[in-house]
Parts: sequence; C-alpha cells; structure tokens
Amino acid sequence: MAKLIIANWKMNPRTEAESLKLAKVSDFPNVVVAPPFVFLDAAKNILRRADLGAQNVAAEKEGAETGEIAVSQLKALGVRYVIIGHSERRALGETDRLINRKIKIALENDLKAILCVGEPLTVRKRGLRAAQNFVGKQLLSDLRGVRKSNNLLIAYEPIWAIGTGKSDNPAETVAMTIFIKKNLYSKFKINTKLLYGGSVNAKNALAFLREGEINGALVGGASLKPAEFKKIVKIASQY
Ligand code: PGA
Repeated sequence: MAKLIIANWKMNPRTEAESLKLAKVSDFPNVVVAPPFVFLDAAKNILRRADLGAQNVAAEKEGAETGEIAVSQLKALGVRYVIIGHSERRALGETDRLINRKIKIALENDLKAILCVGEPLTVRKRGLRAAQNFVGKQLLSDLRGVRKSNNLLIAYEPIWAIGTGKSDNPAETVAMTIFIKKNLYSKFKINTKLLYGGSVNAKNALAFLREGEINGALVGGASLKPAEFKKIVKIASQY
C-alpha cells in the first residue's frame, strides 16, 4: 500500500506567491500539503493530485471564538486532513483535554485527523519503555471516548527529533509503532496508519519508509525544499 507523506509547512512561507510556487512542486499522489490557514485557498487552486491539510482546528463547532477556525470552514475550503496535537501546539498550551475535543470534532465531521504524539528527551533518556509509557498515556487521554474510525492517523514524533536534524533510530521507531498499533487496537478497537515525524529528509527517509509497520512520514523542514521533498515522495512511492 502506498505510503503517505504529509508536508507540514508550519508558519511558512511568507507570501501567497511563495505558497503557490511551493504547492506546485509538492503536488504528488499520496501527499497531503498542510499550509498555514491563510494559504489554504491558494494551495487548493493548485493541487490536483495531493490532498489539502490544515495544521489545526477549533475545538468547538461554532461560537464566538476570536482567532479560531471552525471545522465547517476547513471543509468548505476542501480540506481533507487536519494535524492535531502537534508538539509545537502542545508547547503553546494545548492540553490533552483540548486535543481530545479537536479529535472528536474532526472525526465527527469526516475529516482525517492526524494525532501527533511523542515524548520529550528527558523521558527518552530513560529508555524506550519509558517513552512507550508516556505515549500510551497521551493516547489514552487524547482518544478518550473515540469510537472505531477509519479516519484516524497517528504521527509518532519524538519531540527531541523535531527540527533538530536528529531523527529517531528506525528500529526503535518500529518498536514504538508496533506498541502504538497494539495499544490502539486493544483499548479502542482502532486499526490505524502510523506515520513517523522528526527530521525526515531525503537521506534518512528510506530507513523509515521501507519498514512495513511505518505507513508514511510527517515532514516539516524538508517539505520546504522542493528537490529534497521530491526525493522523499519518490522513496515513499516505491513501498
Ligand atoms: P521536521 O518537523 O521534519 O522539521 O523535524 C516535523 C514536524 O514537526 O512535523
């Protein structure tokens, strides 16, 4: 089955013109392009093969929420995927409770929700088992009350690997992936796709994407570099 690559542009690029250029060179099958909200519409008009993703969604369906973007607004723009609980948003104050509400809103409205989980370095230094306990707790809280769904994806992103150039050891990612999949099945009866994220680039992508248990990658920095991104997508298309 083709592997999925999510391009998380984060708070880039600066202008709509740059977004259009970047969208043009990111338009491949089995790719999800996730620009900042203000460039979603521009990207939508370019993308023919890739799907459109958002980087966040409001936790309420409607209401007086200054600065928030509702799930219905995303859907009206043609968004199919939404990244929820990215560690950069958790660092800004998003709690598991809020993330749980966002996941439910996304799933109830037929968006594909990409839930990001991952441990900080202090935890990983205590070993893989400690990291699994940490991630297991995140899953329990973030997915509380979530019923069987085909629209849920999990991105395992160890915090220390994000934007640092230090990716995880693929063998340990596989062990974590198996842990997460088993956990989701036993606790929620959910079969899910699992993506790895954290300093994925053209050089290390193969080591992750050739693993059967890993169903794709969430790519930040390298998604802003067209040549590098194209190589990652090519590798993904071979598995
Ligand atoms: P990175 O970001 O590829 O730049 O490490 C990944 C992410 O934050 O999703």
